[in-house]
Amino acid sequence: MCGIVGFTGQQNAAPILLDGLKKLEYRGYDSAGIAVMCDAQISVNKVTGRIANLCERTKDGEAVPGTVGIGHTRWATHGAPTEENAHPHLSNDGRFAVVHNGIIENYIALREKLIKDGYHFDSETDTEVIVHLVERYYKGDMLEALIKTTNKLQGSYALGVICSEEPGKIYAAREASPLIIGVGADENYFASDVTALVNHTRNVIYLEDGEFAELSPDAVHVYDCLGKPVDKKVTRVLWDVQAAEKGGYEHFMLKEIMEQPAAVKATIAPRVKDGKIVFEELGITLPQLKKIRKIVITACGSAYYAGCAGKYAIEHLSKIPVEVELASELRYSDPLIDEHTLLVVISQSGETADTIAAMKECKARGAKSLAIVNVVGSTVAKLADYTVYTWAGPEIAVATTKGYTTQVTVLYMLALYFADMLDRVDDYSIRLKAIESLPRKIQQAIDINSHVQYLAQKYHGSKSLFFIGRNTDYATALEGSLKMKEISYLHAEAYAAGELKHGTIALIEDHQPVIALCCNPMIMEKTLSNIVEVKSRGAEVLALTFKNNQKILSVADDFMFIPDIDALFSAVIEIVPLQLLAYYVAKENGCDIDKPKNLAKSVTVE
Ligand code: BG6
Repeated sequence: MCGIVGFTGQQNAAPILLDGLKKLEYRGYDSAGIAVMCDAQISVNKVTGRIANLCERTKDGEAVPGTVGIGHTRWATHGAPTEENAHPHLSNDGRFAVVHNGIIENYIALREKLIKDGYHFDSETDTEVIVHLVERYYKGDMLEALIKTTNKLQGSYALGVICSEEPGKIYAAREASPLIIGVGADENYFASDVTALVNHTRNVIYLEDGEFAELSPDAVHVYDCLGKPVDKKVTRVLWDVQAAEKGGYEHFMLKEIMEQPAAVKATIAPRVKDGKIVFEELGITLPQLKKIRKIVITACGSAYYAGCAGKYAIEHLSKIPVEVELASELRYSDPLIDEHTLLVVISQSGETADTIAAMKECKARGAKSLAIVNVVGSTVAKLADYTVYTWAGPEIAVATTKGYTTQVTVLYMLALYFADMLDRVDDYSIRLKAIESLPRKIQQAIDINSHVQYLAQKYHGSKSLFFIGRNTDYATALEGSLKMKEISYLHAEAYAAGELKHGTIALIEDHQPVIALCCNPMIMEKTLSNIVEVKSRGAEVLALTFKNNQKILSVADDFMFIPDIDALFSAVIEIVPLQLLAYYVAKENGCDIDKPKNLAKSVTVE
């Protein structure tokens, strides 16, 4: 996820662009840049790091003359965070500059064709193909050039373009990435969201997918994909900047829970082509895979629990043994790891010290390493032999949600991918269909659990909470319990339901809340007997199961639901009601949800 801005008016553009980019930093902040037009010349300033570096470079914009410009703050997906890869990108002839938020899925083919046709590339980004296509198609009509260009693109984009032959004008185009126009007095804007606009104007036009806009200081024209003018209404933004940064949600955590369908889709979609999973970024050959005798997954916190959830799918489908190890333990355990081990390292930030140390220890013992990370160019990504990005976009809340679900999703895809390579799967298309249904089912899990906030009122004062489950349900219980602890500060414990009778059931007393995960038909009956077991000792059971599961509904006291899903892939669905429960319990307890006490988003020290 990146942030784009554009301005045209009577004022100096650079300071306004920088102000807008600062408001969009939460969308991405590993590099930034602006392109400003003055006397039919486009000047570009780009930096790595935060917007502050760009402000320093341009003396807060005062060193950059011109009243027309575009800007970008980047969250790298294709190409490490370097100045060359930062936006805006310039055409070879210097007449065009482009900023982009989204992912161009067919950029490799477009890039190869453009290079063959003589265009020179300065970056590794998917975005750069756009500016060369615009140059190719521009014959004096920018709208026509933009329509022809976007007709070649597959994927998502919010585009901003300026052209030195179109003084005073900025252009925008939208497909599956947010883009909003700000309507001012003798000046007009565009931005990825209202946070970058509300300081200048609250009158906005929301572009729809397939629409284009031409902005000049005194006019806004919107067109459809055929170039026909579209009449758009101007609406008034009532949000303040704080609320707008959170997309109108009260906390980043709730916003990021709601972003999970899109984040999981962004992680899956570019890797499914012609009914097959493709990991272009992997490059593991069949002989290399056949050499692997075991997979060791290592991580910390929720990333470790993501490994616990993914283990079942990898073993069941690929038949490769999987061990999941806490990085802080693995690094000191004199691990039995060698060149026949594939080490899978999971890390949202890619900077967790324990995880990096464990990774180095295992690499030194001969293991090949495959990183699953969310931050392009992070330490874990750089150290790994292979890297698969989760493309969840920046995650601001300390307690991960979309980071976890996209990590598990990548593990599911790897499970099916390896099984297919080893020719060990005979229901591939059914399994792939189940994986592709995950974004929609996550949304359903959000929609059918709106009552969770009332359940939170019942449970928020509990002294402690038990989360129980078996097999895949147990793996999800581990993450659900951590979510509850880290944001609501309630003591919670995840327990393998079959283990209760071996000691812990001694703790079950009258009104002890027990959250029972019952989403795996294979062991449903067993978990049902555990529910009866704890209820007979006075527990109050909140069951998480399918809507039509009458057996569970007849014994539990409260319920949360998930839509039907292949149990092997259920963790990314099951965790959603548990995320919402933890969120609303924490809200009831008045906790600092986005920044819980004592916690950091990434622990870069031991
Ligand atoms: C903790 C975070 O500090 O580190 C957790 O609060 C996270 O949310 C854990 O799961 C591991 O972090 P990362 O970046 O390696 O996934």
